[in-house]
Amino acid sequence: MADAPARAARVLLGISGGIAAYKGAYLVRRLRERGIAVRCAPTRAAESFVSPLTLEVLSGERVYGRSYLSRDGGAGGAELHVEAAQWADLLCVAPATANTLARLSLGLADDFLSTAALMFEGPVVVAPAMHDAMWRKPQVEARVDALSALGVEIVGPVEGALASGERGWGRMAEPEAILEVVCRKLGVPETGVAPPAGPLAGWRVVVTAGPTHEAIDPVRFLGNRSSGRMGFALARQAALRGAQVTLVAGPVGRETPAGVRRIDVVSALEMRAALEEASSSADLIVMAAAVADYRPRKRADRKLKKSGADGLTLELEQNPDLLAGLASLAPQAMRVGFAAETERLEESARSKLEAKKARWIVANDVSRSDIGFDATDNEVVAFGRDGSRVRFPKQSKDELAGRLLELFAGRRAASG
Ligand code: CTP
Repeated sequence: MADAPARAARVLLGISGGIAAYKGAYLVRRLRERGIAVRCAPTRAAESFVSPLTLEVLSGERVYGRSYLSRDGGAGGAELHVEAAQWADLLCVAPATANTLARLSLGLADDFLSTAALMFEGPVVVAPAMHDAMWRKPQVEARVDALSALGVEIVGPVEGALASGERGWGRMAEPEAILEVVCRKLGVPETGVAPPAGPLAGWRVVVTAGPTHEAIDPVRFLGNRSSGRMGFALARQAALRGAQVTLVAGPVGRETPAGVRRIDVVSALEMRAALEEASSSADLIVMAAAVADYRPRKRADRKLKKSGADGLTLELEQNPDLLAGLASLAPQAMRVGFAAETERLEESARSKLEAKKARWIVANDVSRSDIGFDATDNEVVAFGRDGSRVRFPKQSKDELAGRLLELFAGRRAASG
């Protein structure tokens, strides 16, 4: 079992072409002072205002600028917009010109920033900057409204001196104001200040994720197809909502979400040991892991050799039910299980609610290939101990994680 430190939060900073681009460079510095990792994506026009080299030195990271993209982004190269979108916890665009605002809101994808933005699934913060006559135009207003409706947080603009020498609304919000919004959304505390606000502020949340591997010999194991996506999404969304999160992760090669404490485990028994340590003061425990029900009775010390054509018989013994065990280990916590079913969804979920003494069982139909195990989307029904039944239509696992956490938080008063 390895206890990995929480990793730094990551921001992809889009900078578009306006005089305020130099403040974008300053924002890089302020973000880094808060311990946040930053990668910059200046548009073509922005490179006339601030050089990629400046951004590279300030961020200490690669810059998705023109020369970098033409070097590595050609045919056969890495899909850099995908890589950048998966790397970041938050996308911030500062400054956002009228043109960039329009492209973001329409979902155009004709340069690196707009393509990465369309790919990105996390929170987005946008700081517009333009002449106030442009800012007041109904077509700009319509684009800003559309972005807000998509959940994008718009910071500023503010009143002040404009590049033209006039005064008016259209000046980009100060980097400090943008920084505050970014930190709040990421759950990064200001140094020495109270914990982040959010609907789960003050909650201790434990999430298990991924499969378990049950060793047969030093090189072979019994496992399952769980990708860990749902559990990692839950951990990430709980942290974004202000919770103190411990993620107990089975063997999956996934990045630790920002601000999350991770305990890596391999087998069901290791997962149980990690839960014993993590769950005693938890308020909410979500068992999204696909725990193996059985393990080989004996683990061979050496690699098993072929021993003839008669086949090989492995003797298996049952693993403990970790969720059921939490009833005595963490009676104070709201306990939630996930059930992967191929038939009779409700009946199986309700019997698991009872057998495992859980408050909620979130059930999905794994016989469908477009949702469930390795898919990016999921569609589930949450069955409550109180008889409730809440259906969540097909959506990304990140979105679904947020909706589920809101359901659990809203029903905290109920026992179990
Ligand atoms: N679970 C657990 N410990 C186990 C098996 C499962 O804690 N040994 C948890 C899972 O993390 C999940 C829930 O129980 O939250 C339901 O898992 P599922 O595999 O659907 O349930 P099983 O009890 O294994 O039932 P089945 O016979 O349908 O596989």
